[in-house]
Amino acid sequence: MSGNPRKILVTSALPYANGPIHIGHLVEYIQTDIWVRFQKMQGHTCHYVCADDAHGTPIMLRARQEGITPEALIERVSAEHRADFRDFLVDFDHYHSTHSEENRRLAGLIYRRLRDGGHIHSRTITQAYDPVEEMFLPDRFIKGECPKCGAADQYGDNCEACGASYSPNELRHPRSAVSGAEPVMRESEHYFFKLGDFEPMLREWTRAGHLQPEVAHKLDEWFAAGLQEWDISRDAPYFGFEIPDHPGKYFYVWLDAPIGYMASFEALCKRTPGLEFDDYWGPRSTAELYHFIGKDIIYFHALFWPAMLHGAGFRTPTAVFAHGFLTVDGQKMSKSRGTFIKARTWLDHLDAEYLRYYFAAKLGPGVDDIDLNLEDFVARVNADLVNKVVNIASRCAGFIGKRFDGMLAPALSDPALFVDCVQAGESIARDYEHREYSRALREVMALADRANQYIDQQKPWVLAKQEGREAELQGVCSLGLNLFRLLIGYLRPVLPATAARAEAFLRIPPLTWDDLPEPLLDHRIAPFEPLLQRVDGQRVEALLAASKEDLASAETPAPQGWLAREPIAEGIDFADFSKVDLRVARIVAARRVEGADKLLRLTLDLGGETRNVFAGIKSAYAPEELEGRLTVMVANLAPRKMRFGVSEGMVLACGPGGEALYLLSPDAGAEPGMRIR
Ligand code: MSP
Ligand code: ZN
Repeated sequence: MSGNPRKILVTSALPYANGPIHIGHLVEYIQTDIWVRFQKMQGHTCHYVCADDAHGTPIMLRARQEGITPEALIERVSAEHRADFRDFLVDFDHYHSTHSEENRRLAGLIYRRLRDGGHIHSRTITQAYDPVEEMFLPDRFIKGECPKCGAADQYGDNCEACGASYSPNELRHPRSAVSGAEPVMRESEHYFFKLGDFEPMLREWTRAGHLQPEVAHKLDEWFAAGLQEWDISRDAPYFGFEIPDHPGKYFYVWLDAPIGYMASFEALCKRTPGLEFDDYWGPRSTAELYHFIGKDIIYFHALFWPAMLHGAGFRTPTAVFAHGFLTVDGQKMSKSRGTFIKARTWLDHLDAEYLRYYFAAKLGPGVDDIDLNLEDFVARVNADLVNKVVNIASRCAGFIGKRFDGMLAPALSDPALFVDCVQAGESIARDYEHREYSRALREVMALADRANQYIDQQKPWVLAKQEGREAELQGVCSLGLNLFRLLIGYLRPVLPATAARAEAFLRIPPLTWDDLPEPLLDHRIAPFEPLLQRVDGQRVEALLAASKEDLASAETPAPQGWLAREPIAEGIDFADFSKVDLRVARIVAARRVEGADKLLRLTLDLGGETRNVFAGIKSAYAPEELEGRLTVMVANLAPRKMRFGVSEGMVLACGPGGEALYLLSPDAGAEPGMRIR
């Protein structure tokens, strides 16, 4: 059935080493792992490698904030990531790090080959520089006031309050998010990869069936917009690899990240006798190479990466498979709603296989987003896995155990039904191959329905009470268990742990696709034990509650000494100061604002007068905890029209920037409307 054995190398995108794995990431790792397990079950040679993506400014700063070295940070995070993947049954053949000797060597090699081919050139660029930290600032580390609406504390290139997009150097009163200092513009020599050199090759490659149709279409837009050269260098201080012939300059994290796929595979070759790097990466490789990625990183994988590989004399990928993003109950994962769920928090409350099954039941071959609807999740897992699949075994196993000493019948009582279910395996296999998991599982569940109908019709519980019908009873239950075995085989890529328990119960070695047509006859099975618990809706509630708590404890502390480093603003005279009318206000209502990630809408009582104010404090406060408390507001600020309504004033808060914020409040005794002087 599986034809000629293939040689396949599969990767998932490398998770950044500065944060935990969450259920959004898991869409990808679960999708890939199912595909790999399927290929292995087909008898193909398939290697699945991944690594932590360990370089870059965010990781450097995160380590600094925690007061540890980047090496210590990435080592800790790597251990956490590996444990999360292991417990979600994501079975890499090798998990490496981009901060490895293999990757340093390969990144240097690829860079030199591209340079020698004339594909790298250098020029001087001007960039924002933090004079206190003495470092260049990536866009997302610059914050300031929106040039359109004036909202404070906007990062990078778009405004949360009014939705405007702009270039970070248009921000008013820009500040470094690292030190709080005002950035200055500074020149530096940078190295660029001339992507345009590869336009003919890329145009051909992207149309040769290596990409999903909707992705190829997106690429046409990018070609039309013109291929820009790509800045592959960064200045010190940077956590990464120094560029071999340019001391003080580092490879941009995205240069060495995909090379990490090769590095991880090279490390696997080192510990696997007979496995040759060139068989998979050499220019004449006949092996298949697949990258599973999220749709946000298509540009890197469908343009830069094939161009780099081709330019450096390696083979290009057989295909890049992009998937969509996860939403929970129809919305982006949200920390305040408790739907930003870490892998570990999930495992503390629910079985990994429930999520594997649910994602698989939702996944298709395209780039559509997939939704985890929590109510549907509970219903679906219970209805399909517990009530349909596992139920078949529990309905039949008791009779075989008690009445036949665990022995299955010597022949199938309805061979046609069994053969039908075997034949369905062909289209199920085709669906797995084409990443049509949702369709594959619908077929499996339709077979489970047929198996249950068969048992309903044959009524083994009636046969068991009638004399002289022993052989029939054994035959019916044995066929039921044989159908169960087929279903477990089909579900094995999705539910490896349940499959292993079922195999132990059936006393059989791990199922392969080729084993499936051969029924189990005259064979002794083990006593039945429950294979999978029902999902309890209360566990889901507990998971959401715990995810909210995670947020409270994960609040990043202000960088040490940050306040001392923020320069005090220039002096103003008393007349200027007294223009500001500061008042005590009571927050009588606080509401979330649909569509705004940072804002709460506050209704403020100023001792008789009420004001409507939008405040960017959602990351730090739940609306409920604000209602009733006193705070301080600027009462005479000119009303500002924002995307969500008019803001009539401003409440005062302090903090290092980012999500940690502290709202000011007066001492006891103060009353709404009192002026602050
Ligand atoms: N480090 C880069 C990838 C480098 S690959 C050479 C990166 N890391 S990531 O941690 O941000 O994301 C890892 C993978 O998870 C990406 O493919 C990304 O698209 C995917 N996802 C991250 N969040 C996701 C969701 N919320 N939903 C679905 N996939 C998500 O990007
Ligand atoms: Zn704005």
